[in-house]
Amino acid sequence: MAFEKNILCIGAGYVGGPTMAMIAHQCPQYRVTVVDINPKRIEAWNSDTLPIYEPGLDGIVKGARGRNLFFSTGIDQGIQEADIIFVSVNTPTKTFGAGAGMAADLQYWEKTARQIREVSRSHKIIVEKSTLPVKTALAMERILTATANGIRFDVLSNPEFMAEGSGIQDLETPDRVLIGSRETPEGVTARDELVEIYANWVPRERIITSNVWSSELSKLVSNAFLAQRISSINAISALCEKTEADITEVARAVGMDRRLGDRFLNASIGFGGSCFKKDILNLVYLCRQYGLDEVADYWDGVVRINDYQKERFILNMLGAMFNTLAAKRICLFGFAFKADTGDTRESPAISVSRRLVEERAELVITDPRALANAEADLADIQGLVAFVEDPYEAAVGCDAIAVMTEWDIYAALDFRNIYETMRKPAFIFDGRNILDHEELFEIGFNVFPVGKPPLTHF
Ligand code: NAD
Ligand code: UGA
Repeated sequence: MAFEKNILCIGAGYVGGPTMAMIAHQCPQYRVTVVDINPKRIEAWNSDTLPIYEPGLDGIVKGARGRNLFFSTGIDQGIQEADIIFVSVNTPTKTFGAGAGMAADLQYWEKTARQIREVSRSHKIIVEKSTLPVKTALAMERILTATANGIRFDVLSNPEFMAEGSGIQDLETPDRVLIGSRETPEGVTARDELVEIYANWVPRERIITSNVWSSELSKLVSNAFLAQRISSINAISALCEKTEADITEVARAVGMDRRLGDRFLNASIGFGGSCFKKDILNLVYLCRQYGLDEVADYWDGVVRINDYQKERFILNMLGAMFNTLAAKRICLFGFAFKADTGDTRESPAISVSRRLVEERAELVITDPRALANAEADLADIQGLVAFVEDPYEAAVGCDAIAVMTEWDIYAALDFRNIYETMRKPAFIFDGRNILDHEELFEIGFNVFPVGKPPLTHF
């Protein structure tokens, strides 16, 4: 069958894979190809075991794969055949040179732009899906038009707002789809073409358009606001621990104000994930570049509170366990940066693990989906850490359990049974406030939640 459109996505990662699978699933009339420089990743997308775990993803990939969804390493061929090219390559924080530790590293993205220019033989719409600093589309336009080969490229910004763990639901019923374009006739035509793709399943009133720079900036600002909510509640959790106020009660009272809303108010060991920190640092860097130091300092505070929250968690453990963790066996329940994903990028569990090893604790890590990534993250201290799939087995002989990830399975465990197998006094540090603290206390545990008075037998 002849397809109406050829859509290409460069970058088969956490965003490229699921977003393209959703387009292919919703729009059988389009041919969707996802390419990547990493052959192992492509091989995994073509296998029974996909390279990422995301609830609901298997079904939609396997339903469309081979029909109108293809994963390939043929980047040049993909570019030549495509009408629309989504660019979803990684844009990590720069680790070298000017802006190291703050600015976005645009080398992967720029390489893609050059490759598109080199091999294109016809007009293309280029869609920025990666999260990028404001004005990146301008740089992309400049690279694409740097040779006078007469081919036109229209660059759009279409940031992705899905969250891992709920990615499929977010893609199926997004709060909004944002498309930024130039306000020229060509820009508007390209924008309308992208609108038509999403309109196959997203209600028109949820597809909003803006100029390119507002679109690029809105993505950074959305993540900054979300992360700010978490740092706000985490900052208050510290005050709760000093005052016998309870963070869950405070969050409930605050969240019932409809102007504020009740979501994203769960106090925790701190936010993780590949994007919040990177995108805020990117925003901070942009503000500094434009001489807006006060604005930069304001947003930088969100990251500083997050680091403080992780360190506070360790210091609380240390204080509770008689000021020494040396030779104490501590079991981390969860390593993923949130539930329902195997992703561990920037997971608070990484820094908590490193700090515990620094304190010379013995570490046992369990997680239903993230153990392979955990082993890779801690490869340099591998001999000092045990990785155990079964949480009951992992807790045997431990002095303490620290909950890092809010997996549902942890709340459903038989803690009476676990308590029996642990060293005494036994401690639980609930970094996600998901367990029944009163019940744990009655079993015999000394319980340390986040932002609530501890329940101890001393
Ligand atoms: P990722 O690292 O999982 O995937 C990026 C992929 O791009 C990798 O597989 C890499 O091999 C590939 N790649 C790099 N250079 C390439 C090139 N020149 N040609 C072909 N492939 C190339 O990253 P991700 O999590 O999917 O994030 C991608 C972008 O989307 C980032 O800018 C991120 O900020 C943004 N984003 C991520 C999420 C998320 O939930 N992870 C959500 C919204 C936005
Ligand atoms: C986040 C945003 O929610 C997405 O909209 C965005 O597209 C994405 O970043 C991105 O740009 O990558 P994600 O990082 O996948 O999505 O997951 P979130 O649900 O936002 O959680 C981020 C972190 O905050 C997790 O570590 C989570 O446990 C933590 N969190 C979240 C809290 O500590 N408390 C909360 O109340 C909510």
